[in-house]
Formats: sequence, structure tokens, C-alpha cells
Amino acid sequence: MKFKVGLFIFLLLLVGIIITLNIFFQQNYQAEMAAQFNQQQLMIAKTIASSIKTTLKHLEEETRALARLLAFRGLQKNGLPKFISDAFVALIEDIGMNMFVLDEKGAPLFSTKGASFNEDYHRLFEVTRRLKPGAVYFSDNIAGAGQIRLATPIRKEGRFIGSVIVGINMDDLTRKYFYPIKSGKRGYAWMMDSTGTLIYHPTEPEMIGRNIFKANESCYKCHKSFKTEKQILEAKDVGFSTYIAPQGEDKLVAFSKIKISHLSWIICVSIPYSEITASIKNSMRLHSLLVLSIFLATVIGAFVVVVINRERVKAEEKARYMDKIRDYAEELENTVQERTKELKSEKEKLDAIVSSIEAGICTFDEHQRPVWMNRVMHKWLSEERLKDFALSNIHGESSLMNAVCGAIVDNRLIQEVAYLNFGNKQGYFQIAATPLHTPDGQCQILVLIQDVTEMKKAEEQLMQSEKLTALARLSAGVAHEIGNPLTSISSYVQILRDMDFDNFTKDALDTIAKHITRIATIVRQMSSFAKTKAEEIKPFKVKELINSTVDLVKYDNRTKKIEIDVDVPEDLPEITVDGNQMVQVFMNLILNAADAMPEGGRLTIAGRSLNGEIEIAFKDTGQGIDKEYIDRIFDPFFTTKDRGTGLGLAVSYSIVRSFDGNIIVESTPGEGSVFSVRLPAHEA
Ligand SMILES: Nc1ncnc2c1ncn2[C@@H]1O[C@H](COP(=O)(O)OP(=O)(O)O)[C@@H](O)[C@H]1O
Ligand SMILES: [Mg+2]
Repeated sequence: MKFKVGLFIFLLLLVGIIITLNIFFQQNYQAEMAAQFNQQQLMIAKTIASSIKTTLKHLEEETRALARLLAFRGLQKNGLPKFISDAFVALIEDIGMNMFVLDEKGAPLFSTKGASFNEDYHRLFEVTRRLKPGAVYFSDNIAGAGQIRLATPIRKEGRFIGSVIVGINMDDLTRKYFYPIKSGKRGYAWMMDSTGTLIYHPTEPEMIGRNIFKANESCYKCHKSFKTEKQILEAKDVGFSTYIAPQGEDKLVAFSKIKISHLSWIICVSIPYSEITASIKNSMRLHSLLVLSIFLATVIGAFVVVVINRERVKAEEKARYMDKIRDYAEELENTVQERTKELKSEKEKLDAIVSSIEAGICTFDEHQRPVWMNRVMHKWLSEERLKDFALSNIHGESSLMNAVCGAIVDNRLIQEVAYLNFGNKQGYFQIAATPLHTPDGQCQILVLIQDVTEMKKAEEQLMQSEKLTALARLSAGVAHEIGNPLTSISSYVQILRDMDFDNFTKDALDTIAKHITRIATIVRQMSSFAKTKAEEIKPFKVKELINSTVDLVKYDNRTKKIEIDVDVPEDLPEITVDGNQMVQVFMNLILNAADAMPEGGRLTIAGRSLNGEIEIAFKDTGQGIDKEYIDRIFDPFFTTKDRGTGLGLAVSYSIVRSFDGNIIVESTPGEGSVFSVRLPAHEA
């Protein structure tokens, strides 16, 4: 900004200087032009002066010559006019002129046409009397007669015999020499004599004859003073001066003096100063225009140069900048390449980790649509489920999904365990959801789904084992405390029954004995928990164990209405178990099946080998198990039967577990249940 203001002031100053210089130049040029013009005027003045002088000198010579000729000839009248006109004809025609030839007494012997002799001429005649031969007297009675007159005596052998007088009309003279003169357009020539009397003036003829030293008011109308004229009078032969007018125009004056005999005239040529200035004004205007154009061109040129230069400087700067940027870009590219490499290896590591994880990983966008999922997830999802797979429909239970989706809003990690069905895979899964902020500001949700079915089962089994262990400890005590008195009661009842009582007492004793048997059964079953160790563990053929169990239950009333199919291959690998305990397990399962089919049905006992395990499935066509009970049937004392103990399955489970086996239940209410006992196959 400061620079711009400075530049503006500098330009203003420059324009000022140029204008001032131009004015000086113009004034100087005007003065120069005036001086030159005056020189020209001076030339004109000199030319006029010299012409007039030559004319008068010639006339003087002619007059003198005529006088001399007439002296020779004599003044006899005969043939006189012809003689004179022969000598003077050219002059007569050239300038308007009167001529008189007078005799010794002053009587005119000859005169030019129209010329009237008067007193003035006579006075001149008198002057000639005293003149030496050849002398010519000049008279300039301009104010009076408007003529210049030359007079010379005619003397014959020294005797005065007459005189020649020539009069030249000033009008004619000036017409010849002054009229053609024009200085510029309005300039003119005028003449005064050495006394300051005006002899000729083209524009003020009435002032002719007036003297500057005797100026009156009328003279001062046009003249401020006659200082210039006076200076001219005092000056030498030639020169120039300036005339300052009181009103109107100043003038330039150049002058030249003529001296003939005693006469001294001054020819002046003058021109209005304004005419000179006018003549140069145009060129000055052009000059100013030229100067201004040059200045403007210079400024514009400079501006253009500055602009171009600036552009060039900018371009250079840009080029430098671009070079720098290129360097930076290279550096950046190298860095990016390095980082990319690092990232790539990191990504490879991550990919390896992700692909090695046996869990489903999936990211969902804010509309809960899947964005990406890993290999495991793809494997789990059936084609049908994959089509409309979304975060919201992973699980049917909306409260669980709300919690998962809430992770996006709350920005927290949630973990839930639920039973899920992906089509190709189902079971218990732990869902962990956490929000994921992408670099472009979007919020996604990352869901990690881990299969925890086995873990849950193990947990359940553990819980079951813990329950059974606690029960075993309790049972040991209870069986002992109840068992002993019960044996004693049973013995007494037995004795009493053998005694002879009335019918009522006999019936009562029978009922007591029946209930004791029932209590004894419970105590026995309870005590089987207490037996932590099996008596004899060895390999058994499954078929043999099943057959001996079926033989035993045949005698139970409950199995009367059902058909039992045994389908166990002979060559099925053996199982390493305690035979009695295993029979007890099988018996429990068969009796339960029989209980489930009170109106009769079919029980199929099938054995098969499965991945190094032996599976013995007890499939009945009974009433099945309600969904709400299925988790509890292995609990001790859980029963749905009026006279059930709820211990059968609990004991069986405890036995099978002790041989590293498992019991799996599948049941459809109304159709039937399958209890599958799995035990490790005996390795021979
Ligand atoms: N084959 C089966 N069909 C239907 N329900 C069964 C079957 N096996 C067991 N249950 C259910 O499991 C419960 C527990 O069985 P258990 O432990 O043997 O006790 P209890 O037989 O004394 O009731 C039974 O009351 C019954 O409801
Ligand atoms: Mg039972």
C-alpha cells in the first residue's frame, strides 16, 4: 500500500515537472519564434528601405543627369518636352511623379501633366539658386503636400539658368513599396522620419504627419506610450523591438533606417504578437500532445514491463515452488511407499490373525447392513440367511439386538450369549459388538461372534457334576442315617407280618412294608451317589450289557405294554465301564421310556460307532419332554411323575460322566424322545 501511494505521488510529481517543462519550453519556443519572426520582419524592413533608397537615389541621379543635359542643351522651349520625356519616361510611368523645369526666374518651362506649380515649388526654386551644380536638394513636406521633392539647379558654365524640381507622391511611392508588404496575416509596414513624424501608415492614414513628441489624446487611444518609437529613433540603423499596446494587442516591431541627403526615414514592420503565438499554438498543442503521449506511452510501457516482469517473477517463483513441491512429493511418495509396505505387512499379519480366528467377524454400516464379513462368517451363513442378513436379524429377540445396536450409540463394547441359527451353523454364540469409526467419519459396528456351545455344555456339565458331588456327600450321610434304622424297622415289620394278627393289622403291616420298600429304594439310589468309585472297570460288549438289562426289566410291570427292539451290532467296539453301574443306567433309561409310553409303544435301542465313540440311543414313541423341562431333567429330584424319585437320570448321568461319557437328549413333545449315551470306545 505504501509503495503504491509513493508511486502515485512520484507519477504526479513527474507529470507536474513535465507540464512545467512544457510551459517553459513553449515560452522559450515562442520567444525564439518571435525573435526569428522579427528577423524576417527586419529583412522586410531592410528590403523596403533599400528599395526606397535605391529608387530615390536613382531619381536623384536622373534629376542630376537631366539638369546636366539641360545645361548642355539650353532651355529653349523648342522640343523641350520631348527631350525631357525621352530622358524621364520610365520614371514617369514607374512612380506617380510631378516634374517642373523652371527658367532662371522660376517660371515653369515644362511640367508633367496635371501638375500644378505652387508656392512650395517656388520656395524650392529659390533654394536651387544657392545650390552648387550637381547638388540635389530633398524636401519632404509630407504633411502638407504628401510629396517628396527633389530640386537641382541647371547651371551653364556656372551661371544659373533654371532648375529641375521633381515631386513624388508619397501615395504612389508607398503603393509601390509598402502595399505588397504583408507581415504574416495582419502585420504591415509603416514609416516615420527621424523627427518622429509619421510618414506612412496603412491603417491610420489620418495620423500621417503627426509627431510622436507632440502626441495628443487621440494618439494615446492606440498607444500606451511612444517609448518603443522613441527607442527606435535613438537606435542605430536597424533593430527590433516590442510594442506594448494599452488595449488590444502587443506587437513585434522591426525597423530599418534610410538616409538620403539630410533626410532620415525609418521603415518599421510590425505584427501582432498573438499571430506568432497563434501560429505556434497549434504546433505547441501537438507538441504537448506528443509529450503527453510519450509520457503516457512510457508509463504504460513501464506498467506493461512491470506487469510482464511481475508475471515472469511469478512464473519463476511458481517454477521454484513447483520444484520444491516436486521434491516434497518425491519425499512424500517414498515415505508413503515405506508406510504402505509396513501397512501391507501389518495387514497381512492382521489378515492371517483374522482368518485363523475360528469366530465370525462382521462389520455393519449405520443402516445395519453388512459391509464386510470374514471367511468363518461366510461358512456359517446359509445362502438363504445371507440374502437378508443384517445386524437386526442376527437374533429374533429384539431386546438383545437393541442392546447390540446400542453399542453404536453408547460407544461401548457389549457381550451377550444367545442361541443363534445361521443356517449352516447353530448353537450358543457370544456376540461382542463395538462401534468402529471409519476414517471418513462414518460409524460402523464391528461384531465378533464366537461359538460357545461346547463351553456352555461343559459349564452345564460342570454345574451338574457339582450338584451331583454335593448330593453324593449328602446322600452318603442320609443313606447311612436312614438305612440303619430302616433295616431295623424292616426286620421288625417282617417279624410282625409272620405273626398272627387281625386282618386290619395285617393290611397295615403290608402297607408299612410297601412304603419301607419304597424308602429303601430311594435310600439305595441315594447311596449309589455315595459310591464314588466303581467296583470293577473293564471292557464290556455293549450288546451283552443291553441284553442283560432287558432281561432284568422284563419282570417290571411297566414294560409289559411296550415293544423293545434291540439293534446293537455284534462287532461294536467294547466300552470300558463298571458292568453293574452301566446296567443301572440302561435300566433307568428303559424304565423312563416305559413311563413315557403308559398306553404302550416302541422302544428302539440302537448302538453304533461314532468318531471313536460308542453311541447307544434309546428312542421311544412316548409323550416327549416339554421344552421348559428339558434343561432340568438331569437335576436330582426333578420329576414329573407322581411316584417318581427324580434321581434316575441324575444318577445315570453321574455314572456315565465317571466313564468320560455323556448323555444327550433330543425330544419332540407328543412324538417321543431319544436319550443317547456316548462313551469312549475301548482301545484294544
Ligand atoms: N423317556 C422319557 N420320556 C419322557 N419323559 C422322560 C423320559 N425320561 C425321563 N423323563 C422325564 O424326566 C424325569 C426325571 O426322570 P428320572 O430322573 O428318571 O426320575 P423319575 O423317573 O423318578 O421321574 C421324569 O419325571 C420324566 O418327566
Ligand atoms: Mg426314572
